[in-house]
Amino acid sequence: MEAYFFDVLNFLVRSIHIITGIAWIGASFYFVMLDNSLRSPKKDEDTKNGVFGELWAVHGGGFYHSQKYMLGPKSEPLTKDLHWSKWEAYTTWISGFFLMAIVYWYGADIYLIDPTIMEISQPVAIGISLGFLVGGWIIYDLLCKSALAKNDKLLGLVIFVLVAISAYALTHMFSGRGAFMTFGAMLGTIMAANVFFTIIPGQRKMVENLHAGEKVNPAPGIAGKQRSVHNTYFTLPVLFTMISNHYAMTYSHEYNWLILIAISMAGALIRIFFVSRHSEGKPLRAALVAAIIIMIGVIWAMAPKNMIIEISDSTPKVSFATVASIIEQRCSTCHAAQPTQLGFAAAPKGYMYDTPAQIIAQADQIYQQTVVLKAMPIGNLTGITDEERTTLAQWYQELKQGSE
Ligand code: HEC
Repeated sequence: MEAYFFDVLNFLVRSIHIITGIAWIGASFYFVMLDNSLRSPKKDEDTKNGVFGELWAVHGGGFYHSQKYMLGPKSEPLTKDLHWSKWEAYTTWISGFFLMAIVYWYGADIYLIDPTIMEISQPVAIGISLGFLVGGWIIYDLLCKSALAKNDKLLGLVIFVLVAISAYALTHMFSGRGAFMTFGAMLGTIMAANVFFTIIPGQRKMVENLHAGEKVNPAPGIAGKQRSVHNTYFTLPVLFTMISNHYAMTYSHEYNWLILIAISMAGALIRIFFVSRHSEGKPLRAALVAAIIIMIGVIWAMAPKNMIIEISDSTPKVSFATVASIIEQRCSTCHAAQPTQLGFAAAPKGYMYDTPAQIIAQADQIYQQTVVLKAMPIGNLTGITDEERTTLAQWYQELKQGSE
């Protein structure tokens, strides 16, 4: 029952996380597009009233006219029903934190710790993971408040280098999967904290100025904009890490840290291209081309390398009984109609190896996950040996040769 309870909790929290995440990132993409698409107001009267830029848009069967007032309207008081965008960010972070806790921290032995990378206890693993979320934000925030913040490009470069160092450090402490997720959660935490600690308080100050009839201080708006720009470039790397756990070829690769950095870089470059596309002037096609080249390189580098076993006529064939016994010992604790592994209410992803027919039908996936990617058994919880992986490889090779 406990495992089922956690599955249901996982399902509900994940649903909330995805829905609020879509709302947050959707709104963020929309406002970045709006900001970059603004053109000088056509009417002098608007310019006099403080309109900085405007955009006409058609959507949902009607026309919209958005106007941006940098420092609020000059001719009239600010309306009381001012719309704020903040709960999308907060609920995404809160649900994400909770999801991280139930999957990666509660299930640290399965998803976060890999003893072949670093032998650590569950509390230590949770401490390191949490440390990256909190520490990442503190260091980033200090950098943005330092003298470095005056130079956007240099600040961006320093942030990139630190993010790359985190990718390297995390993949050398956690399982690939756990490292990628902690990396994404760290960037997501920075994004949400930017909204909570900088962007919203800054906007609140501006609104207070307006209500008090004072001159609006533009400084909080400028600082908020810088954070907002960083958030835009973090978006795609974060989204990638959030889905990366479906793709063992990314996180279980020997050079997974490089793959993580390269895909994050490609994501940021794609955002750079889209931001420039909506701005006046030429779109930065070079950013898109660079992202495509990086992705082609990553896809090439990740291509699975088959394990080729030298088989001569005198090599004894691997018997099915041997294979079935390896699978029973190393896989069936989880991949069975009734898993015996603590924490599993049902066979993960529906893969079950209860009968010979099931094993043979799924030989491709077994070979791929166990021999090529070494992603299974997850966290090598059942202690499969290299010899056993080699035996599975030989069995698979013989199976394929037999069917030719
Ligand atoms: C401790 C539990 C556990 C053990 C033992 C285990 N697995 Fe898995 N397996 C999982 C989980 C959890 C997933 C789902 C991973 C995910 O969410 O992407 C999974 C997924 C898979 C998948 C689907 C992968 C995909 O992305 O489509 C295959 C195939 C697989 N396992 C094969 C095996 C084989 C073969 C073994 C034995 C060598 C094995 N597993 C041992 C827990 C386990």
